[in-house]
Amino acid sequence: MRAVIAAEPGGPEVLSVAELPDPEPGPGEVLLDVAAAGLNRADLLQRQGFYPPPPGASDVIGMECSGTVAAIGSGVEGWSVGDQACALLAGGGYAERVVVPAGQLMPLPAGVDLVTAAALPEVAATVWSNVFMVAGLQPQETLLVHGGAGGIGSFAIQLAHRLGARVAITAGSPDKLAACAALGADVTIDYREQDFVAVVKDATDGRGADVILDNMGAKYLDRNIDALAIQGRLVIIGMQGGTRAELDINKLLRKRGAVIATNLRGRPSDEKAAICVSVVEHVWPLVAEGLVRPVVGRSFPLAEAAGAHAFMESGEHSGKILLTV
Ligand SMILES: NC(=O)c1ccc[n+]([C@@H]2O[C@H](COP(=O)([O-])OP(=O)(O)OC[C@H]3O[C@@H](n4cnc5c(N)ncnc54)[C@H](OP(=O)(O)O)[C@@H]3O)[C@@H](O)[C@H]2O)c1
Repeated sequence: MRAVIAAEPGGPEVLSVAELPDPEPGPGEVLLDVAAAGLNRADLLQRQGFYPPPPGASDVIGMECSGTVAAIGSGVEGWSVGDQACALLAGGGYAERVVVPAGQLMPLPAGVDLVTAAALPEVAATVWSNVFMVAGLQPQETLLVHGGAGGIGSFAIQLAHRLGARVAITAGSPDKLAACAALGADVTIDYREQDFVAVVKDATDGRGADVILDNMGAKYLDRNIDALAIQGRLVIIGMQGGTRAELDINKLLRKRGAVIATNLRGRPSDEKAAICVSVVEHVWPLVAEGLVRPVVGRSFPLAEAAGAHAFMESGEHSGKILLTV
């Protein structure tokens, strides 16, 4: 099969297409003919050599894809050759074929075409598991999403809005703020020019955000605690602003707040499977009704993976970037 490999750690230019042996499905696994793969921010780190795949996972980059079932390993039930699906992967997505534990396969939501479905697994699983399963966002509560125009952010806005929460977002340009408002954001904050703590406090009569979905990590830790409401939950899923910061425990305990940090990729397959079941039950119906939609900013052919990485690094994109096979 053709697959994208990184010859060595480095910039986008280290990515190229190579011929690799076809993977074979083991017990409990399914082989997919890949239609499209979604890019994720962590893919950039993996290419740079900072985010190795979990033990046993493919060295090929790519944490999500869509495709058609081509073969089935022993013990797999509920899937047949020819079925279309999308999948959460530990790796291997930037390729013509990939092997997936069956529990990490999801059917396509009604009305979503096979290629576009590659934009869904990571954003749906990350947003649903963190904002709803872990942080327990309730209708009428306020969610602050940092990076509202990105892949994760675009989905988080829609899901929280549809489930009845008030949504505040940060983004880095007027166009992106407008795109977030169109997706359902109630409060939009330009992180280059505005103090998000002040704007969120102002918009909530001084209460703050009940849940914060944070991609920045260290850089925003102290301000995120300031922006939290009493009994607020800060869920850190990204480290774009570094990994080490000082936590003012006094400030956090006076708010009876929680700081949670999670990562999807490194979890055992059965935990990912449980998240996929919950996503299909709770999120797919909203997608099928058109109430929440995959946001695809741009697609590149598989052979142009380097260009796709450079585009994500430029920060110009909104929504998801796909590689089509
Ligand atoms: N832990 C997990 O399981 C998990 C899973 C998936 C993703 N993630 C993380 O989630 C984050 C988003 O991923 P993605 O795939 O959606 O990437 P993406 O589409 O590239 O989004 C990155 C976002 O970061 C925003 N950003 C940059 N500087 C910022 C700042 N100073 N303040 C606020 N926002 C800022 C960008 O906003 P502008 O474009 O407006 O500048 C953009 O929306 C990444 O950090 C990724 O690693 C974590």
